[in-house]
Amino acid sequence: MKKGNSVEYIEQINQAVNFIQGEFSGQSKVGVILGTGLGQLIDHIEVEKSISYADIPHFPISTVETHAGQLIFGKLSGVSVIVMKGRFHYYEGYNMKEITFPVRVMKKMGVEKLIVSNAAGGLDPDFAVGDVMVINDHIDLFPENPLRGKNLDDFGLRFPDMSEPYHLKWVEEALRIAKEKGINAHQGIYVGVQGPNLETRAEYKYLRTIGADAVGMSTVPEVIVARQMDLPVFAMSAITDLCSPGKIKKISIQEVIAAAAIAEPKMTAIVQELVQKI
Ligand code: HPA
Repeated sequence: MKKGNSVEYIEQINQAVNFIQGEFSGQSKVGVILGTGLGQLIDHIEVEKSISYADIPHFPISTVETHAGQLIFGKLSGVSVIVMKGRFHYYEGYNMKEITFPVRVMKKMGVEKLIVSNAAGGLDPDFAVGDVMVINDHIDLFPENPLRGKNLDDFGLRFPDMSEPYHLKWVEEALRIAKEKGINAHQGIYVGVQGPNLETRAEYKYLRTIGADAVGMSTVPEVIVARQMDLPVFAMSAITDLCSPGKIKKISIQEVIAAAAIAEPKMTAIVQELVQKI
């Protein structure tokens, strides 16, 4: 999939949208990108249609085993959603236009809101493994920007505002829901890095120093593109490892997944209710 030419890119988006609409005619209100930590949400969706990424023209295909590639249409707490089960990471080798292609497609299909989840390392010394952090801002340390190149004027501005990348009313609402349910949820700043290696102790210190509370390898590209299209965003991290001085230890992907599983029911419970309130 070559994404160099913007006319061609828009055509590819349109072809993907046309294909999907041929398979499923319903209108979805909310787009959901499931990262590590929110996969279980699928069990709470009344599924109306499921389409494999591989069948959708120009859709990238996930290479990470933990992310099955399915676009799922259905109802979550009575609200019509499109769920991306499986997302694309920069470290897999996709370029930014590929990573954010599904977000463009969901917007074109009429979603009005975007919910994103991810797994992240906790830089804030008060965080524990399995905690949840509602993202209230981010720092972009990816080496490439998804908006680089000729602007897609049909979608939004050349220089989109990023003063409120995460809809702060929803941050408050999510924290209220968490409190009501007895879930200890934090809020904080997510820094996006390319990975795939985890950080050195010096890098964790640096990321904390520049103001981040959690670090991960996703989310930021999708959020930038969503904001360019004026889609309001809600995002949450499952804290899978601790990255503050004295707490850093060797971790494996298996441990990251196990830790995300602790956060999963909390994140699921928050999103199930939040989706009705936003
Ligand atoms: N660093 C970067 N990405 C991550 C981490 C981390 O410590 N944990 C989960 N995703």
